[in-house]
Amino acid sequence: METILDLIKNRRTTRAYKKMMISEEELGKIIEAGMWAPSGHNRQPWHFTIIENKEIMKKINLDTKEACKNSDDPLYHGWANNREYDAFYNAPLLIILSYRKDAFSPIDDLGAASQNMGLAAECLGIGSCWIGFINKLFENNFKKQDEYRSLLNIPDAYTLHHGMVFGYPKKDKLSPQPRRGTFNRIK
Ligand SMILES: Cc1cc2nc3c(=O)[nH]c(=O)nc-3n(C[C@H](O)[C@H](O)[C@H](O)COP(=O)(O)O)c2cc1C
Repeated sequence: METILDLIKNRRTTRAYKKMMISEEELGKIIEAGMWAPSGHNRQPWHFTIIENKEIMKKINLDTKEACKNSDDPLYHGWANNREYDAFYNAPLLIILSYRKDAFSPIDDLGAASQNMGLAAECLGIGSCWIGFINKLFENNFKKQDEYRSLLNIPDAYTLHHGMVFGYPKKDKLSPQPRRGTFNRIK
């Protein structure tokens, strides 16, 4: 049994997945972990949209790449112009995270939910990847927000933000990147 610290340190971003869908029970546990995240003023403002439909994933991938072509940040142009690039790495499952418009600290709250879900997946031997890339499709784009709210049956009160993909890993874990964060301490 891994301790929580082992679990945190062993989780690695997964970018190659087996085709097989995770079980309903595993999916339920991942969603439950997201629901138990802390949130500013306990608003619990998240909405999770569980997508297994490959056509929809393909559409989001292509639409995001199209949106990135107009980005001011040249970093995005490489992905946008790479026909081979699949933002979801062929994962069998995408969860889109949206936040309710009355959220107190929406981005922090979705971050906490995402980390909880990634750790729950790790605990179950399931790989995950945080997909911030698709935020390029949704940010400041009311038309796309409306289009996808309707396509994905997301209630009006929510703003789509980013994704997480999940699935059984196809390859061994990548080596961890050295940790570069800093801290200081005052006594
Ligand atoms: C906010 C955020 C957005 C991210 N977006 C993407 C993404 O769009 N695509 C991707 O492949 N990885 C994405 N990642 C994963 C990071 O690249 C990854 O966490 C980092 O390289 C460290 O690797 P590790 O998770 O294995 O420790 C994202 C991570 C975070 C926290």
